[in-house]
Amino acid sequence: MRTVKSVREYQDCRDDINKGSTGFIPTMGALHRGHQSLIEASIRDCDVTVVSIYVNPTQFNNADDLDNYPDTLEQDISLLKSMGVDYLFLPSYEDIYPDKYRYMIEEGEFSRQLCGSHREGHFTGVMTIVMKLLNIIRPSAAYFGEKDFQQFQLIREMVEAFFMDVRIVPCPTIRETDGLALSSRNLNLDAGSRKKASLIHELILSETTDVQINGQLTQAGFDVDYVETHGGRRYAAATIGNDNKQVRLIDNVAIGG
Ligand code: PAJ
Repeated sequence: MRTVKSVREYQDCRDDINKGSTGFIPTMGALHRGHQSLIEASIRDCDVTVVSIYVNPTQFNNADDLDNYPDTLEQDISLLKSMGVDYLFLPSYEDIYPDKYRYMIEEGEFSRQLCGSHREGHFTGVMTIVMKLLNIIRPSAAYFGEKDFQQFQLIREMVEAFFMDVRIVPCPTIRETDGLALSSRNLNLDAGSRKKASLIHELILSETTDVQINGQLTQAGFDVDYVETHGGRRYAAATIGNDNKQVRLIDNVAIGG
């Protein structure tokens, strides 16, 4: 695996990398089996697989969340090597934001709902970094997890809206055996919160109403951002933790299908 640390260096070797089909998986590191499943799909489909690790500050609306974001870079690098990934792109802030984030991609509807209504500017940060990464890597396909379904949908629509020549591939949510969706932030759950965390998935699958589920989660000690159904999919976001560390969890499932 070759690690590329600057945009210029990547652009210099891009024509060689993109001779056949290139699959790209953007991540923020602290890699787990969810990320692995996206990488496996790319390795299966494409001639070359490129992974990026970049903890993108512009998508964090909360300074504590950014400070507490887990960093397991050495382990991540070993994992990517063992999986047979061809390139790791590891850019710096200065490289990615030469404009100091004066230019951004904004969407005016769906990005303001669900997570967007609780994390101001979050999806503008996500869409802007993904646009930049896709422009740098120019892959044939990019892989996104259904765990972040709103993110996947916004990116798929952004790519259509800007006539970008890349296939956006959705991949199913990978879960722990008790149903908790794998997430880098799960590393920050204390033992008690970890036990409760699977309740989100259990409840959004149940045949009760969004309002009732919201009440049940609140009663169990969650600080609920939303439980809402849109287009046959039920989405939830809630925070759990102790005074030291709060962890915001999100999940979604297709319902009634
Ligand atoms: P990150 O949270 O690291 O996730 C990277 C990719 O892995 C996303 O497409 C996400 O949906 C997927 N993923 C995470 N957990 C998963 C799970 N349990 N099952 C399946 N896929 C899962 O999402 C981001 O980073 C960032 O917003 C990013 C797109 C990299 C832009 O900064």
